[in-house]
Amino acid sequence: MKNKVQKIGLVTSGGDAPGMNAAIRAVVRACTYYKVDCVGIYRGYQGMIEGDFEPLTARDVSNIINRGGTILKTDRSKEFKTKEGRKKAYNQLKNAGIDALVLIGGDGTFNGGIVFNKEFNFPCIGIPGTIDNDIFGTNYTIGYDTALNTIVQVIDKIRDTASSHNRLFFVEVMGRDAGYIALNAGVGAGAEEILIPEEDLGLERLLESLKRSKRSGKSSSIVVVAEGDKIGKNVFELADYMEENLPQYEVRVSVLGHMQRGGSPSCFDRVLASRLGVRAVELLLDGKTNLMVGIINNEVETIELEKAVKGRQEIDKELLRVSDIMSI
Ligand code: F6P
Repeated sequence: MKNKVQKIGLVTSGGDAPGMNAAIRAVVRACTYYKVDCVGIYRGYQGMIEGDFEPLTARDVSNIINRGGTILKTDRSKEFKTKEGRKKAYNQLKNAGIDALVLIGGDGTFNGGIVFNKEFNFPCIGIPGTIDNDIFGTNYTIGYDTALNTIVQVIDKIRDTASSHNRLFFVEVMGRDAGYIALNAGVGAGAEEILIPEEDLGLERLLESLKRSKRSGKSSSIVVVAEGDKIGKNVFELADYMEENLPQYEVRVSVLGHMQRGGSPSCFDRVLASRLGVRAVELLLDGKTNLMVGIINNEVETIELEKAVKGRQEIDKELLRVSDIMSI
């Protein structure tokens, strides 16, 4: 390995995701293993601008593998979107002797890294951490599996009360632009219908499907709705519309919100984070930059950061088909 990099800065940015701490631990410990320094950058890119740095040693990341959130805190910095903000960040990194960055986050985080690298030729490697699983070039992002398990557990509980009262429930899950969470959690939780941004089911079809469910003997139903669904009504308007048109059902809404982002990471997310964290450090030590590490068919792979943010992760049509068959 070429060993030009001496001090790696580590930042978490954008929405937090369970498993980010496991990734932090992996990066810090890989740095210790390869005898390079690691510096934690607090509060995302905003902390980079303000020089909010602390050296991290292998012992500083003890007992965090099981913790949700990010010990480094996170932020969606507006200032980093400006040239002046990025210049300040560059000066802070230089003053601290940091010569490469590991960026843990999603699209926004990687876009920041791409511009920063272009302007200052600063080595950056990205690790995908977001519950949304909407990053191209990896089958899974860190946090997605935990969020799915959290959601399924909650919908199981909603099912208990829905079936006791013979109610129709609309459960809104996260996914401003992407339906992976809704589709997978919906199938896993046995939802009757799943509404996602990538497919507009249409109000009439939804209505017909729920009428059919009722006729087939179902006394209660659960519809999972992604936050960014395109049916044209928000989840409360949708519920009102269905109550007017399906008088045989009592309708309720449950918006799961930010609880989906919290909690102890699943074993899958911890292992994924450990693998990606180690590879990210190795890539930097190998003189690589502008790459994202991801997992494809259970192998750790790399993709250019630019491709990761521009590419579109296709929704699993086969899973949509399975969901249709299951809701008979
Ligand atoms: O991180 C992505 C995400 O989970 C989206 O699905 C959701 O719309 C968004 O975060 C909400 O995050 P915040 O409240 O932090 O803006």
